[in-house]
Amino acid sequence: MGCPAKKVCKVLAGSALLANEELVKRILTSVVNAVDVPVTLKIRTGSDADNRNGVQIAKIAEDCEIQMLTVHGRTRACRFLGQAEYKTICNIKKSINIPVVANGNINSPEKAKKILAITNADAIMIGRAAQGQPWLFRQIGHYLKFNEKLEPLP
Ligand SMILES: Cc1cc2nc3c(=O)[nH]c(=O)nc-3n(C[C@H](O)[C@H](O)[C@H](O)COP(=O)(O)O)c2cc1C
Repeated sequence: MGCPAKKVCKVLAGSALLANEELVKRILTSVVNAVDVPVTLKIRTGSDADNRNGVQIAKIAEDCEIQMLTVHGRTRACRFLGQAEYKTICNIKKSINIPVVANGNINSPEKAKKILAITNADAIMIGRAAQGQPWLFRQIGHYLKFNEKLEPLP
């Protein structure tokens, strides 16, 4: 429930679903009941700045027995523009008891540490920053463990 692409949202899929909490509930209930494996969910923080219902969606997800929730700190309307915001992710983490993964604009070991601290999330997810620097994960892991920076590979 994170994709903002026009062709996806115009058929009421992806992040367009965030505007319809009842439908989210029905979909999550159906999927969780249909499979024997843990079901996880990825969302944005809401439809737009005036409709940031991420906390509500997160509670629905937990009630529907979703096992882990990833939150991209942008609304549908933001697409991939501007900076992600982490306040909503922090509020979501406070509101539910399943693991929360913070996502959006995490592109360095320092940023990873900062976002984990700000949101209190259980994990972070990295998208675009890994393109061209697949060693970023190792750098972040090392920084979180030892508080020192590894050099990028030559
Ligand atoms: C070209 C592109 C394709 C993406 N496809 C998916 C996808 O299929 N499923 C998904 O959950 N997120 C997808 N995303 C969103 C990313 O997983 C991530 O939420 C978003 O890029 C923000 O994180 P970042 O700032 O670390 O890149 C895509 C992003 C981009 C730029």
